[in-house]
Amino acid sequence: GAVTVSLTVNGKPQTLSVAPSTTVLDLLRERLHLTGTKKGCDQGQCGACTVLIDGRRVNSCLQLAVMNDGREITTIEGLGAPGGLHPMQEAFVAHDAFQCGYCTPGQICSAVALLKEGRARTRAEIRELMSGNLCRCGAYTNIVDAVEAVMG
Ligand code: FES
Repeated sequence: GAVTVSLTVNGKPQTLSVAPSTTVLDLLRERLHLTGTKKGCDQGQCGACTVLIDGRRVNSCLQLAVMNDGREITTIEGLGAPGGLHPMQEAFVAHDAFQCGYCTPGQICSAVALLKEGRARTRAEIRELMSGNLCRCGAYTNIVDAVEAVMG
């Protein structure tokens, strides 16, 4: 049977009835129509589905919605102030940190959390700590440039 789950998504409380097997990724995309979060592998290997849950970066394809009852989710749609871009989004634009753009929402969510974690000090560390986010186009150099620019 269906289960009721209450979440805050991009600052908005949401109560939904979901199948126990529904992932956070499918809930976001199919129920809330927040399609900025991408489905790549659906197996925790590519990072395209990265969102912030209670401020931490997670692969939303590996999270069941019911396991996240009461939590706060931020997606790419909710990162910037209304009508404006988040500084990390600005930096990705300024540094051309994408080609096809499919991995970009996940890259940006991951990068925002990375800076909050405060563990990356060098380009090598940025690259290592962003290694869960794959880019098939190989825009890695520009992605590191963007993250480094925001890190200051
Ligand atoms: Fe979730 Fe690939 S879609 S890690």
